Amino acid sequence: MDELARQLANLVGNSPLKLIEAPFPEPVPIRLFLKRDDLLHPYVSGNKWRKLKYNLLAARARKLGTLLTFGGAYSNHLYATAAAGQVFGFRTIGIVRGDELAGKPLNSTLAFCRAAGMQLHFISREDYRRKENADFLDALTAQFGPCYVVPEGGTNDLAIQGTAEIIPEIIAQLGCIPDFACCPVGTGGTVAGLVKSATEQTEVLGFMALKVPDSLWLPVETTPKARGYRVPDYHFGGYARTTPELLNFISNFEKRNDILLEQVYTGKMLYGIYDLARQGYFPEGATVVAVHTGGLQGRSKALDLI
Ligand SMILES: Cc1ncc(COP(=O)(O)O)c(C=O)c1O
Repeated sequence: MDELARQLANLVGNSPLKLIEAPFPEPVPIRLFLKRDDLLHPYVSGNKWRKLKYNLLAARARKLGTLLTFGGAYSNHLYATAAAGQVFGFRTIGIVRGDELAGKPLNSTLAFCRAAGMQLHFISREDYRRKENADFLDALTAQFGPCYVVPEGGTNDLAIQGTAEIIPEIIAQLGCIPDFACCPVGTGGTVAGLVKSATEQTEVLGFMALKVPDSLWLPVETTPKARGYRVPDYHFGGYARTTPELLNFISNFEKRNDILLEQVYTGKMLYGIYDLARQGYFPEGATVVAVHTGGLQGRSKALDLI
């Protein structure tokens, strides 16, 4: 095993599984566990770590020393990629959506990226939409030199290989197979990994962080034996939108359990789990495991004022 693989093996795969003993707002008849991927690393936290792991190994195997990736101004993925580059010795380039941001003071996410050594390159929203086109990627490579391109949000087949490792870890820690495994959904890479490795005994629920045109519980693309659904009902108005009810829920959960959440992904997922539990969706005594996918760098300061 080379040095990078050894470091990754030590870091990824060690997140604790915690029983949530004080369900909120009222007792719910399930055994709820939180898989604390937010604790994997102070900066490369949560699902980003899982998604980057095999991509970093692939970049190293191809002898590419530069990671180039994409994101918006508040992107957890840009933040994690910048941190991973610094930890593992890759040069990083972040292509940021919105050329109007160039020359303006950086927000805290982008300031962190730059401090971690990421070269930021702001492009127009129109160009940003071309981020998957081969000719656009060729032009970037011509500009920045040979690089390993990681898509927006970090989701690709190697990312799913990484997120597929979550369920086997949960089973080993629990000592049994969970009845339900839950995660938030953005680009869908995390939920795809859960579904990939779940057995037929586990139902996977992916809580949508953004509004989808159809508000149906659609199956996640799946193996014949797995059961997985996208739950569209808890986006609270759309991506990064919040309501006082959501923020109050998060703040109460944090105080009771001494675990921080954030309002874009994990807060919405946990709200959804509690709501489904109250409605009786989960059978009495069901073991429900929710993945804390990190993202705490984007936690709203408003939560501290509640
Ligand atoms: C903290 C956090 N949780 C969950 C997600 C959703 O993961 P995925 O894009 O794999 O669906 C993201 C980003 O995409 C994220 O930053």
